Amino acid sequence: MESILFVIFLVTLSSSSFVAESSDNNRVFSPCLDTKVQVSDGFTFGIAFAQRNNFFLNSTVQLSPCDSRLSLSSSNSQIAVFRPKVDEISLLTINASSFSPATYGGYMVAFAGRKYAARSPSAFVANSTYTVTSFTLVLEFKKGRLQNLYWKRDGCAKCSGSSNFVCLNNQDCAIRTSNCKNQGGSVDCSLGIQLAFSGTDKHLAVLNSWYEVENLRQYSLYSLYSNLRDSLTSQYSKIF
Ligand SMILES: *[C@@H]1O[C@H](CO)[C@@H](O)[C@H](O)[C@H]1NC(C)=O
Ligand SMILES: *[C@@H]1O[C@H](CO)[C@@H](O)[C@H](O)[C@H]1NC(C)=O
Ligand SMILES: *[C@@H]1O[C@H](CO)[C@@H](O)[C@H](O)[C@H]1NC(C)=O
Repeated sequence: MESILFVIFLVTLSSSSFVAESSDNNRVFSPCLDTKVQVSDGFTFGIAFAQRNNFFLNSTVQLSPCDSRLSLSSSNSQIAVFRPKVDEISLLTINASSFSPATYGGYMVAFAGRKYAARSPSAFVANSTYTVTSFTLVLEFKKGRLQNLYWKRDGCAKCSGSSNFVCLNNQDCAIRTSNCKNQGGSVDCSLGIQLAFSGTDKHLAVLNSWYEVENLRQYSLYSLYSNLRDSLTSQYSKIF
């Protein structure tokens, strides 16, 4: 698969910051290979950006972006690879000044694994009219093996009162793309993806960061990062 890795800003909020120097014993660094993880390992997964149709075989069966039967490598697509720590809540951001999802088809799918391939449903990110900048991705493990990836959505309650946002399909708060900085507007439309882990690791330890995200509301992680990510949080400042 042809892929260009672009610079990713990975900020990690440790859910167990009192634990000194936990180590990463996972030797698998490709998002297209299988692995089993334990708490404190790194886990590599990818996010592919493409047209929605490019994630499907014959427009019907959704395959993992690792599957060569998808012609992702010959289509207009882009892959980002991340390696968060298992069971730590992380906020992944992709800076809008270096990457525009709309030019790569506007949809994304998170994926990992080969024989045990898991992929999320495709999610709309951006087109010339609307841009969605905030997502929560849940990585669900069973005995350390990734079982499932899905987008956690909590509706449009956070933006329903704001004229800056449009509610798409009763699930995503979208900004008008014309308001984005790279379109001459004033909003930083960098993509922010909060991660949460659920299920069990290979020693059957329960992955807990999920419960923390359940308690944090969808955008609350951004306020925790406000010192670091001023321009990303400013678009949400009215709704915290
Ligand atoms: C997809 O379409 C091709 C030709 O159009 C056909 O040969 C193939 O069997 C189809 N595959 C599936 C999984 O439907
Ligand atoms: C952009 O996406 C929205 C939501 O998916 C859709 O309603 C709209 O028709 C799309 N606009 C264009 C120009 O593709
Ligand atoms: C994106 O990059 C631009 C230019 O380097 C910077 O001004 C902006 O703050 C960055 N945005 C985020 C969310 O990191």
